[in-house]
Amino acid sequence: MKKGIIIYFSGTGNTAFLSSLIKERLENENLYEIELFSISKDSKIIDLSSFDLIIFSYPIYAFNAPIIFDKYIKKLNFFNNKKYYILKQSGESLSLNNSSSSYLKKRLKKSKVKIDGEYHFLLPYNIHFRYDDEFVKELYFYNQKLLDIFIYELKNNIVRKIKSNPLIYLNSKIFKIQRLGGPLNSYFYKVDYSKCIRCNRCVNECPINNIVIKNNKYKFKNKCIMCMRCSFNCPKDAINIGMLNGWRVNGGYDYKRIINDSNIRGEYLKEHNKGFYKIFKKIIKENDEKYNEYFSQK
Ligand SMILES: Cc1cc2nc3c(=O)[nH]c(=O)nc-3n(C[C@H](O)[C@H](O)[C@H](O)COP(=O)(O)O)c2cc1C
Repeated sequence: MKKGIIIYFSGTGNTAFLSSLIKERLENENLYEIELFSISKDSKIIDLSSFDLIIFSYPIYAFNAPIIFDKYIKKLNFFNNKKYYILKQSGESLSLNNSSSSYLKKRLKKSKVKIDGEYHFLLPYNIHFRYDDEFVKELYFYNQKLLDIFIYELKNNIVRKIKSNPLIYLNSKIFKIQRLGGPLNSYFYKVDYSKCIRCNRCVNECPINNIVIKNNKYKFKNKCIMCMRCSFNCPKDAINIGMLNGWRVNGGYDYKRIINDSNIRGEYLKEHNKGFYKIFKKIIKENDEKYNEYFSQK
């Protein structure tokens, strides 16, 4: 079987979950044997020459790819005559997210490599507010259809593009808040020692070793990349994330339970179709239309 690789960064597990779904689907279809490669600070440089399919995946942070993702991409060498895809994901579908792959695209273009398709999946917020299980399931259904579309287009060499424009590009440049926001906000991170059980999970899981133990206290250095892994995964919700604390979300999404629980129907938007939730309507409709175009006869 041909070989593929998914190179991804995941702060709090959503991109890791999506990557495992993509792997499962490509392998079940007997298309590619997939290696999953998760980026962290000390990741080795992968030699892409031995892969036929290369997929990049990341969560969108303020309309951009995570810094750690772009930094890793910078180190890679790209080769022609392979298939390249971008399968990114985020909490919502605003077109302001459409320039998030600009650095990756620039690098690929420089190496004269063409992109075979770009796809935007939807997974729940790990910051701002927690998504209801019903909504998580609805997005899971959306993603399953988009995965079907991806496989169909891959098999039929249909190139999917996500359109951007100079204004969207400019917006993502302005909002590169991670560069400044992470280091600055680091000064305000605090641990609530009345809750903390000293499990060191935050220290062990930080993808850039930004948390150290000094005099029996947790110290945050100023290299934070804002992935939220420390506070999101803290079993006692003991980490205060400074200026973003009002947007803190704690605790992972239990996908296995949500998917398997038939009482969770995934019909959240029917009842919540105002305000924030309105923005999902268009993309879900377009996804359904494309899905029906490809599969309604079968
Ligand atoms: C610092 C930060 C900024 C974010 N900005 C956006 C954004 O601009 N648009 C969006 O839809 N989601 C945004 N999100 C939400 C994440 O993209 C989303 O929750 C994603 O599924 C997290 O993936 P992960 O678990 O693999 O890290 C942001 C999350 C973080 C931590």
